[in-house]
Amino acid sequence: MNFRFGIWFAVPLILCGITPEVPASWWYMGALGSSRVMCDNVPGLVSRQRQLCQRHPEAMRSIGLGVAEWAAECQHQFRQHRWNCNTLHRHLLFLFLLVSGSRESAFVYAISSAGVVFAITRACSQGELKSCSCDSKKKGSAKDNRGQFDWGGCSDNVDYGVKFARAFVDAKERKGKDARALMNIHNNRAGRKAVKRFLKHECKCHGVSGSCTLRTCWLAMGDFRKTGDYLWRKYNGAIQVVMNQDGTGFTVANKRFKKPTNNDLVYFESSPDYCIRDWDVGSLGTAGRICNQTSRGMDSCEVMCCGRGYDTSRISRMTKCECKFHWCCAVRCQDCLEVVDVHTCKAPKNAAWITRT
Ligand SMILES: *[C@@H]1O[C@H](CO)[C@@H](O)[C@H](O)[C@H]1NC(C)=O
Repeated sequence: MNFRFGIWFAVPLILCGITPEVPASWWYMGALGSSRVMCDNVPGLVSRQRQLCQRHPEAMRSIGLGVAEWAAECQHQFRQHRWNCNTLHRHLLFLFLLVSGSRESAFVYAISSAGVVFAITRACSQGELKSCSCDSKKKGSAKDNRGQFDWGGCSDNVDYGVKFARAFVDAKERKGKDARALMNIHNNRAGRKAVKRFLKHECKCHGVSGSCTLRTCWLAMGDFRKTGDYLWRKYNGAIQVVMNQDGTGFTVANKRFKKPTNNDLVYFESSPDYCIRDWDVGSLGTAGRICNQTSRGMDSCEVMCCGRGYDTSRISRMTKCECKFHWCCAVRCQDCLEVVDVHTCKAPKNAAWITRT
C-alpha cells in the first residue's frame, strides 16, 4: 500500500482518537505520559523494542517522559518557521515524519534519539535505572584550564545512554533495508553523538574555607538546549543524498557538496513550502499563525504568510512593569496593561485546502 495514501486515509480516524494500523513508532510513548508504560499497548514497537520495554520498565518511563522534552525543544527551534514541529496534531505529525525523507524528518529523528540518550543518562545518574550506574571509568587526577583536579564520584554515564538509545531506537530501522531506514539510522546516530558533544566538567571545591586548592570533578551533560541548537545548525546544513545502486549506502545528491560525516544530517526528499494545509505532505499550512511585522526573517509576515497577507488585531494583556529591587532581596513589580497588535496570517482564498492533484 502507498504509505502516503495510508496517512491521508488515517487522518480522520486519528483526529477522532482512533489509532488505526498505520506506521507507528516509539514516539507514541509520550502520549502515555507518566502512567506505567504498557509495552503491549504502544503501537508500532517492533519485537526487539517490546522485549527491551518488558525488561526495562523504568527506562521506558524515562523515555516516555522525555518525549515531551525533545518535542518542546523541536518546537523551540522551529518557532519562527512555517513548519513549527506542531505536536497539537501530534499523531499526524509523527505519522508524516515516519514515512517522509525530508529535512524536517531528519531533524526529528536526530533530536528524538538525542532525547532518549539524554533521558536515559539522566535517569541513570538519578539512580532510577537498575541496569546502570554512573560512570566511574575516569580515575586519578587530570588537568583543565583551571589547573589540576581529581576525578571523583560519578560522571553521567552517557555511554550507557547512547548504547541503550541505539538498541532501542534503531531496532526498528534495522528491520528495513531501504533508503529511509538508512537515512533514519544515520540521523539517529548524529543525534546520539550530539549529546556527547556537550558533556561538561562539574566540580566541587575543597580546601580551607572554599579556597578551592583541591577540586573534584566529574562529567555532566549540558543543558539539552545546547544539543537542540547544535542539531538546528545541522538541520540548516543538512545534506541531500541518494541511495547507492546496490542499496548499501548513499552518496551526496549534488556532487558539488561535501560528503556527509557522521555528525551531519541527511535527507533525500525536498520539503514542501508548508504554505497551505496538505495532509499528504505533512503540512498544516500557516493560516492563523502569528507573524512579526518588523522582522525580515523567516517569521516575517511576508515569509510566514506566503504573500497571502495578514490580519491585525489589537489585544491588551497584563505585564509586569516598573520592577524595583528592594533591599534585600526581593523584586516587586506593578501590573500594567499593555496594548499590542498581533498579526496573523490569512487563510488561502481558495477554501479547498486539501488539494490532491
Ligand atoms: C519582531 O522582529 C524584530 C526584529 O527582528 C524583533 O526585534 C522583535 O523582538 C520581534 N517581535 C516579536 C514579538 O517577536
